[in-house]
Amino acid sequence: MPSSTTSDRGSENRGSENRGSQPSLPGAAYRFHCIGCGSILSAAAHDFRCAECGNLLEITDPAWKSPGVATHLKSLWRERRLSNSSLDLSGVWRFRELLPAPDSEQHVITLREGNTPLYELPRSSRSSGVSRLFAKHQGMNPTGSFKDAGMTVAATFARQAGYRWVACASTGNTSASMAAYAARGGMRSLVLVPEGKISWSKLSQALDYGALTCQLRTDFDGCLRLLQELVRRAPVYQLNSINPFRLEGQKTLAFELLEQLDWQPPDHIIVPGGNLGNSSAIGKALLEMRDLSLIPSLPKLSVIQAEGANALVRTLREAGGKHLVSVQAETRATAIRIGNPASWQKAVNVLLATGGACEEVSEVEIAQAKAEIGAEGIGCEPASAVTLAGLRKLLRQGFVKNAETVVLVLTGSLLKDPDFTMEFHRGELLSGADNELVSRSLNRFRHPPLVLDATLDAVIQTLEQAEKAGPSL
Ligand code: F0G
Repeated sequence: MPSSTTSDRGSENRGSENRGSQPSLPGAAYRFHCIGCGSILSAAAHDFRCAECGNLLEITDPAWKSPGVATHLKSLWRERRLSNSSLDLSGVWRFRELLPAPDSEQHVITLREGNTPLYELPRSSRSSGVSRLFAKHQGMNPTGSFKDAGMTVAATFARQAGYRWVACASTGNTSASMAAYAARGGMRSLVLVPEGKISWSKLSQALDYGALTCQLRTDFDGCLRLLQELVRRAPVYQLNSINPFRLEGQKTLAFELLEQLDWQPPDHIIVPGGNLGNSSAIGKALLEMRDLSLIPSLPKLSVIQAEGANALVRTLREAGGKHLVSVQAETRATAIRIGNPASWQKAVNVLLATGGACEEVSEVEIAQAKAEIGAEGIGCEPASAVTLAGLRKLLRQGFVKNAETVVLVLTGSLLKDPDFTMEFHRGELLSGADNELVSRSLNRFRHPPLVLDATLDAVIQTLEQAEKAGPSL
């Protein structure tokens, strides 16, 4: 049983200790703000919804809106990169002035998350025709996805509130991350995943980190519905991105990105959309940085979905963003196989605020984009590749201009979904009569493994043939 809930903690949490000698912001006195009716609450219920109107909550702090206090932040955050304190070694807690503060540093559960690289993508930049193209690779986090940045914060507050059990519904990455942070924090974790619809590598992470793992005969949306009911009945703390502490941690992706770009905002940031927590978090961070005068202008934040899981695209197209248009989701990019995204309204708000676009891409486009990112020596999981496919579409539409700077957010590691990669290179992905022609068009991106006799001649002959054929991309 929890000794208390997060709900009664908000107003008392006054500033994490700043170990550096530099001054810090005054303690973060965060509150919960309802995105629907605008209520400000010092407490949040178990389901993280507003008691008045049922809408989602976000975390706010007046200090995050006053430019005067931000002047020293850039140098303070940079200095912390030389520190060996465990909080400073985290690429999330390094930015703690703009996060809700736990009661004590001792409560923080960290795996040194964040600190992810920003890579240039010269080949994709040339082939797509955009002048500067970067990938912010969140797959380089400890459990291989962007979820870790949010999980360190939300798991910390779960433990601080005294919970023994944490739980999530997941397409795989949230469960892997939650299970790891729960294990590090001495909590137990309950995972609800759709049976047969998540990759083995993600599932195996949850098992190894000791989660109680339930494969439910439903889809992700069914798992999430069930979890919502569960948290009303059982003393478990939900760690889906409905939990606003998750989104606070995920904001740091944007802080770190801007720091890596010497605080010169790119023109566009492009992110995959599933349950729409990450786009909401990045958008919130951009707006906070603008309010604090940390950046001179706002990048446009665009969200890309798979055609078969395009709830946000349809919500904007068919309902003008006023109500959610749910879909029956189907895509091989299983991480974003979500038809009823919980944070759709937050995502609509940040798209409007930053002037971003929302687009959908086909399974073929996803497969090609993933192969191209792989050929840069970087790689990512299928859901992340929608960003490059989406960029091509936005360039064709003229929304992104050739002379602009674009950052793709790669959300998960290549190793997260080896089946997809193997099937692609063996020519088995997208096979079937309907797809035959398009599938063949991707042959130049394929590098299938060869089975040879174990002789020097066979290997040399193969090498010579490959040299004659030239590079495949
Ligand atoms: N990319 C990857 C690799 C993901 O795992 C997810 C979501 C997304 C993109 C979409 O992010 O939901 O914030 O819009 N995965 C969740 C999970 C749903 O359970 O792992 P989002």
